[in-house]
Amino acid sequence: MAKTKVGVLISGRGSNLQALLDAAQHDDYPAEIVLVLSNKAGAQGLERARKVDVPTGFIDHTLYEDREDFEKDLDAKLREAGVQIVCLAGFMRILTPWFVEKWRDRLINIHPSLLPAFKGVHTHERALEQGVRVHGCSVHFVRAEMDDGPIIGQAAVPVMAGDTPETLSARVLEAEHKLSPACLKLVAEGKARVSAECVRIAEGSEPDAETVLINPSV
Ligand code: GRF
Repeated sequence: MAKTKVGVLISGRGSNLQALLDAAQHDDYPAEIVLVLSNKAGAQGLERARKVDVPTGFIDHTLYEDREDFEKDLDAKLREAGVQIVCLAGFMRILTPWFVEKWRDRLINIHPSLLPAFKGVHTHERALEQGVRVHGCSVHFVRAEMDDGPIIGQAAVPVMAGDTPETLSARVLEAEHKLSPACLKLVAEGKARVSAECVRIAEGSEPDAETVLINPSV
């Protein structure tokens, strides 16, 4: 079967992009990364894509007075490449409703918290300040409001005594690298569909009802 064509938008390190590129190396993975676009020239993720011969592009948002004009160029590049699903993987620009609506239910984001908790930035610092025992990450379809939209998947990690934002972030990032490709796979296969603004996961792709993370252990 033809693979779903995916475009990834990044602004920096690109470790989630790497997880997607690695997954896409497998013949049975249902998606291929056909384009990586960055709004930052030196983004490390661009190099990761080049290494595996995935086309890249840089669109400098500072050259645009209007957000929508910047997004029109993003949109044109994505369409030229035949992109069907767009992944935001550490893309640090807020998208306007124009772009979000154009890609409705085909635009997904990875966020480092268990949404709807800790939308926005500095999620690990805030989780530690709030003393939560369980933290994690979410992959969701994007809506116009920041870090909002139907949740496709989440992964939880425990918060440990002595955690710093750095140690907690490293634990969450490891979970992100598993969750991002798993969620993209579900979307590419049509196994994660939005209905009444919630995602329905196809039968057979759900976890066991017994799966649970308890912290502290009991
Ligand atoms: C990740 O923590 C992601 O959840 C957030 O930005 C970070 C990007 O990291 N949206 P990377 O560029 O994928 O390494």
